[in-house]
Amino acid sequence: MATPESSGNLGDMSGDEFRRAMQLVTDRIAEFLDDPERWRVFPETKPGDVRAGLPVQAPQLPESFDAILADFDRLIMPNTTHWNHPGFMAWFATTGSGAGILAESLIAMLNVNAMVWRSGPAETELEEVTLGWLRELIGLPRDFDGVINDTASSSTLYALAAARELLTDLRLREEGLAGRPDVPRLAVYCSEEAHSSVDKAVITLGLGITGVRHIATDSDYRMDPNALSAAIAEDRARGVRPMAVVATVGTTSTTSVDPVPAIADICAREGVWLHVDASYAGAAAMLPEMRHIFTGCERAHSLVVNPHKWMFVPMDCSVLYTRRPDLMKRAFSLVPEYLVTSESDVARNLMDYGVSLGRRFRALKLWFIMRYFGAAGMAARIREHIRLAGLLETWVDADPAFERLAPREFSVVLFRHVPPGLAGDDAALEAHNARILERVNASGEVFLSHTKARGRYGLRVAIGNLRTRETHVLKAWHLIRKAAETV
Ligand SMILES: Cc1ncc(COP(=O)(O)O)c(C=O)c1O
Repeated sequence: MATPESSGNLGDMSGDEFRRAMQLVTDRIAEFLDDPERWRVFPETKPGDVRAGLPVQAPQLPESFDAILADFDRLIMPNTTHWNHPGFMAWFATTGSGAGILAESLIAMLNVNAMVWRSGPAETELEEVTLGWLRELIGLPRDFDGVINDTASSSTLYALAAARELLTDLRLREEGLAGRPDVPRLAVYCSEEAHSSVDKAVITLGLGITGVRHIATDSDYRMDPNALSAAIAEDRARGVRPMAVVATVGTTSTTSVDPVPAIADICAREGVWLHVDASYAGAAAMLPEMRHIFTGCERAHSLVVNPHKWMFVPMDCSVLYTRRPDLMKRAFSLVPEYLVTSESDVARNLMDYGVSLGRRFRALKLWFIMRYFGAAGMAARIREHIRLAGLLETWVDADPAFERLAPREFSVVLFRHVPPGLAGDDAALEAHNARILERVNASGEVFLSHTKARGRYGLRVAIGNLRTRETHVLKAWHLIRKAAETV
């Protein structure tokens, strides 16, 4: 029996073999990008289907690349939810753009791990420069220093870990939280519309889920600054120490924008860290006409924006900016002997700014994309998504059978169908609209998700894929109306 040893091949693919295989992969990618609608956006697969199509054990002996690719075609392509499809309008729609896909190949080729400058000089410095460019494009001041993480959830966790270091008298890095009667309960404030990653970060940091205060919002789902002030005063009165406020620019359900200037005033007065979650909507600050969404953010201690959400960068890429990199380092820097390098005084070591030691070269894809589209091209594409969402908003508003559930701020529209017999019955409307959602998604042409706003169930149409055109939005609207008439 031929084994790798007996065949004498203990190395990797040859260049020739790679070239041939890459051509097959390239053909698949190009065909997909040219015509993603050959595929259903949401597959007709059931839980367990893919597992059932796979062997239970790993192969003992080598398989040909053709066989592997044939299984990719057979098992993966028809059984995945196609986020790169123009009919994808669920959650926050994203794009793995061509330039980003190409960059991902080169990232894998280099396979660099930019733990310290020495382990990735180009990677470390390109990240600094690219994030400087992005900072200018979204109008943040120069004292905002950026690093790239995997996701906004990690970025927010790291921001809050740095916020904890602002409480220097508690010596938390040195002595921790547990078993210390001298440490008061700590609190983090965010709106009731904030993303659950804030709650997760608070749990992870050992503050306990009751350490999160969900502040009431106004009729447009924006944090009420008076309610924030009152919650902080109430906490102080009972001995709880405020640690940070998380404001959101573009909340997950309704894309509302918290009043950051008023929140920044409160944070300054109270001496607490202000973190801004602009994971989705931060990209829109590239547009001069949308720059106002960042008013007040220049006073934040930290801000997260996700290029993998609305800047056409393939998963994953989240940028965390902070005006207090010193505290970020205080939270995370710990240098074992084997990572001591002589450049640490003059160059950045990315491992100092978060939990993970290893760092992918994510800056390369952001750099490729910023250059390939140019700032004007990126802004024009984001502007088009906002235009398309505005169009859908006008169609929804013009149809008396539909009710919009939130103002449309960016590229997301939230609404529900209200047939005459069900008006006023939120539970029945939820069941009815859930059926509409199922029917639309079963079409395979469009994929939507839902949310609840003030307990009211709504269909959420999110536009953010570069291949989504007006015809796709129109198709989604037709499918929704047809489903509303027939369910
Ligand atoms: C406002 C907001 N913040 C944070 C997140 C979490 O993002 P990630 O998946 O990058 O952790 C999301 C996800 O959609 C979000 O909408």
